[in-house]
Amino acid sequence: MNAQPAAAKHGLAAGLSPTRTDWTIDQGWKNYTAHEHATWKTLFERQTALLPQLACREFVEGMRALPLSADSIPEFAALNEVLKPRTGWQVVAVPGLVPDEVFFDHLANRRFPSGNFIRSADQLDYLQEPDVFHDVFGHVPMLMHPVMADFIQLYGEAGLRAQRIGKLTELARVYWYTVEFGLVKEKVKAEAGVEDALRIYGAGIASSFTESVFSVQSPSPHRIGFDLERVMRTNYRIDDFQECYFVLDSLDDLLALARIDFDPIYERLNSGPNYAPGDLLTTDRVFQCGDGGYVRGQATAVG
Ligand SMILES: [Fe+2]
Repeated sequence: MNAQPAAAKHGLAAGLSPTRTDWTIDQGWKNYTAHEHATWKTLFERQTALLPQLACREFVEGMRALPLSADSIPEFAALNEVLKPRTGWQVVAVPGLVPDEVFFDHLANRRFPSGNFIRSADQLDYLQEPDVFHDVFGHVPMLMHPVMADFIQLYGEAGLRAQRIGKLTELARVYWYTVEFGLVKEKVKAEAGVEDALRIYGAGIASSFTESVFSVQSPSPHRIGFDLERVMRTNYRIDDFQECYFVLDSLDDLLALARIDFDPIYERLNSGPNYAPGDLLTTDRVFQCGDGGYVRGQATAVG
């Protein structure tokens, strides 16, 4: 059975020992319950209604080209029939979080590990661990795009190396602020012609009902131009909305990023400051200076 109590942990977080060294398992699609398919339907319908106005063109195109529907949690085999011929990627099932080296090895070989479980219906907007909705709905549409496909593979290779030399914290910030929480500038039609807008491509945002709106429309967070070294010095929130989103001028920037020799940057990162998530620097290219209202509201609520 795939039904899990609300507080259940999965994969590595549950102290699980893998049967296979790469941690893959069968998706076990036939074991999903009607409740679990219904949870997928709720999540799917909410996001597909929102994202055409908020996500970048490439995300929406990927989402529409894949065999995803509200009816049921998708079968990975069916997704792979479309995804693999397009960019060489495939989705493989894992029981939850996996060790870093296993994760990077999958990415380096164009396999995206997806949790096979789905969150419980009473925790639609609170996600402790990436589930099948986050991993498939959030990530796979962008894996249909050749630039993101190359970027994530190269990130996997860089991750294996960063782990060996003790630079994973710094490299992980690149993944966080791009693949998970990235925004990109996009030309959109407006009353006065064409204008620049900020759009979502990060899976952590695209799979979140509340943060997808917050990231693009809230006056609270900073939105600043992506700068690699700045990003690698910046901590992030794992427990709440981001205080800062980094914006690419174009998805094509990811390719240049993936080809960068990180070694001189790692060297520079051995000295100099680290930044808090809400910091704004005089050197930042600011798209929007956030008013921090959301963060202050949270602090008041807690205090
Ligand atoms: Fe993710």
